[in-house]
Amino acid sequence: MRLILLGPPGAGKGTQAKMLNKKFDRPQISTGNILRKSIQEGTELGCQAKVLMNEGKLVQDEIVISLIRERIVEEDCRGGFILDGFPRTINQAEKLTETLNNMNLSIDTVIDFEVSTEELLHRLTGRSTCSGCGAMFHIASCPPLKEGICDSCGEALYQREDDNKETIKKRLEVYENETTPLREYYKKQGNLKIIQGSGSVEEIFSKVCLMVS
Ligand code: AP5
Repeated sequence: MRLILLGPPGAGKGTQAKMLNKKFDRPQISTGNILRKSIQEGTELGCQAKVLMNEGKLVQDEIVISLIRERIVEEDCRGGFILDGFPRTINQAEKLTETLNNMNLSIDTVIDFEVSTEELLHRLTGRSTCSGCGAMFHIASCPPLKEGICDSCGEALYQREDDNKETIKKRLEVYENETTPLREYYKKQGNLKIIQGSGSVEEIFSKVCLMVS
């Protein structure tokens, strides 16, 4: 299974990637998570990325492409992987295709989640994330049992710095300009599948599973 999850901020890529990881035991590779980890660790990459991420802009292609190139050759990716939030530009997609071609591999399926802007705003402004295991919650649709505490591991929940109205607006704009052209790119490659991303997490997951199995 070599899978790409496409879709705007808040479309549910991370949520579905985690569920796929559990069910199929393939690694979730989220460039957003890798970058946030670098920020937490205070690395040079993290310092560079922080400013751009907090402004809702994309981190430079060279940086994320090299992160992915290093990651997909790791042992746990031999049976496949789930890309969550990569690629995001045509240049990233072309470099990914080239890298996989050199390994005699290709992407099996690209799933694009379509969700209304109103729903995206609702999801992102109410989201909280676990600082320990990365589990995701939502103030209305998926609240934790105890406020501010992760149900799975008991660590504190936090709100992402880029989940404020102004930055979300910018992220959606960047998505529209930079990432939506990928639909056409993968349509031409013949592996694009579109899912209406509104509905419960479980309903969406059933549709995703049908598409990947
Ligand atoms: P990244 O971390 O990838 O964020 P994103 O693409 O903006 O997506 P999100 O994580 O916000 O949303 P999601 O689709 O995963 O939704 P989720 O499942 O969490 O990127 C952040 C930044 O990093 C970028 O802006 C950029 O700066 C940089 N970056 C990352 N990758 C890059 C790249 N390749 N190139 C350049 N820069 C890059 O769900 C959201 C909420 O909704 C949760 O609360 C969840 O519980 C809830 N929810 C999920 N599904 C449902 C449902 N079906 N019904 C109701 N609620 C739901």
